[in-house]
Amino acid sequence: MNNTITLIIDGEEIQAPQDATVQQVLESINKAAPIICAHEATTSEGICRQCVVEVEGWRVLAPACVTKVSTGMVIFTNSERVNRSRRTILEMLNASVDLSEAPELQAQMDEFGADRERFPHAKTREQDVKDDNPFFVRDYEKCLLCWRCVQACGDDIQYTYSISVGGRGFDSKISTFFDSPMPETTCVFCGNCVAVCPTNALKSKTEHFMELGLDYDEIRQEKRAEKKKMGKA
Ligand code: SF4
Ligand code: FES
Repeated sequence: MNNTITLIIDGEEIQAPQDATVQQVLESINKAAPIICAHEATTSEGICRQCVVEVEGWRVLAPACVTKVSTGMVIFTNSERVNRSRRTILEMLNASVDLSEAPELQAQMDEFGADRERFPHAKTREQDVKDDNPFFVRDYEKCLLCWRCVQACGDDIQYTYSISVGGRGFDSKISTFFDSPMPETTCVFCGNCVAVCPTNALKSKTEHFMELGLDYDEIRQEKRAEKKKMGKA
C-alpha cells in the first residue's frame, strides 16, 4: 500500500506521509510555520492561528499545526496574505497582553514587521500577580490564552486538571475551579505548566525571588517558610 502523497509547497513538489499535518511536512523541509499555541509536548488545538498557510482554492487560511496534507494540495507559506495575518495576530496580542518576557513572540514581531504601537487604545488584561504557593507565581497580564498549560495539566502530561479556562470573551482567563488558591486545588506542583508557558505568565518562585533581588540563602529561607505554611516541609 502506498502511504505517500504528493503536494506542492511554495512551487516545489514534495512527497509526504498521507497522515501528516502541514506543519510536520513543513518541518521536514525546514520551513516550519511560526507557532504560539502549539508545543511539542502538547496536542495542537488550532487556537492561535499564527501558523496559517495559504492553500490554493481554500477560502480561509489553514492552520498548519492541525491541517492534514492531501494529494494535490498547493500551499504557499510566505504570501502577503499569510504574512499580513501573522503580523496582525501579533499586533493584537501585543496590544492587550504583556509580551515583554516572551522572547519567541518578540522575535516573531521582528520577523513579520509587527507595529508594536498599532492599537494604542486597546483594553489590556491588567490584573494582580497571583502568589499563593511556594513553587510558582501566576501573572495573567502576560497570558495570551494559548491553552498549553491547561493541556499539560490535563490529558497531555499530568492528568491533574487543576486549571482550565473560565469567563467569556475578553474576560476569558486561565483559572482554577472557583478561582481557588493553587494549594486548594488538585495541583501537585509538577511544574509542567510553567515549562510550556511561552510568555512567563507562569514563573518559578526561584526566578520570581531572584528578580526581586533576593540572594540564594534568602530564597531558600523564603521557600522553606512558604512550604511550612503549606504543610510541605
Ligand atoms: S498561562 Fe502561559 S501557558 Fe497558560 S494559557 Fe497563559 S500563556 Fe499559555
Ligand atoms: S500554532 Fe497552529 S493554531 Fe496555534
